[in-house]
Amino acid sequence: MTIPGRKGVLIVFEGTDGTGKSTQLQLLSRYLQDKGYPVITTREPTEGQYGQRIRELYVNRSKYSQDQELELFLADRREHVHNLLVPALEQGKVILCDRYFLSTAAYQGARGFDPEEIMTLNHFAPDPDLALLFQVPLDTGLKRITSGRGDELNDFEQRESLDHVAAIFSSIKRPYIRRIDSTGSIKEVHRMVIEHVNPLLPASLTDQV
Ligand code: TYD
Repeated sequence: MTIPGRKGVLIVFEGTDGTGKSTQLQLLSRYLQDKGYPVITTREPTEGQYGQRIRELYVNRSKYSQDQELELFLADRREHVHNLLVPALEQGKVILCDRYFLSTAAYQGARGFDPEEIMTLNHFAPDPDLALLFQVPLDTGLKRITSGRGDELNDFEQRESLDHVAAIFSSIKRPYIRRIDSTGSIKEVHRMVIEHVNPLLPASLTDQV
């Protein structure tokens, strides 16, 4: 979708679980705020009515069919686009969003939907200006989830399906996607993120001018 009068910038953080994308989102947010940019951070699934139902899926995925699962993610995104993303883009904000429609293509694609069909179903959602796709070898990601966070793997994170998810992420081609190998240190990865983000930030967006 194109938004007339779009002044802001939409940067989305994508990748399988355990790639460090959420940490990088927070670091970038601080970096941009220090430079005076009007930053908004947000994430999908959201905290809204559909997002809350999606969180039930983590506990018991069999409660919903594949179709219902996909429909919930799309409904959550419609609400997010309408209530937050479009208004913020019109107001000239720099939006950092943790997961967006590439996650639907990859995760629901891994459940059997055609990833390109899922991309088409998302035409209501504005394209990001930049999609940072964080990639690490599967074992590194799984180790980060279980030892680093002390989490059990949730239903979305089972090994085989994660492998499939990563393969779909790798196969999707869009001009706004930048792939980042996030095996390095947090600092090194942050530097790579900044290199991709800086060219997108016109001085006219800062609060100071
Ligand atoms: P995640 O970013 O890991 O959230 P949290 O930090 O709250 O655990 O995302 C939750 C899960 O939702 C993740 O495993 C991927 C899945 N997901 C989809 O399957 N489809 C989607 O469209 C989105 C946005 C997320």
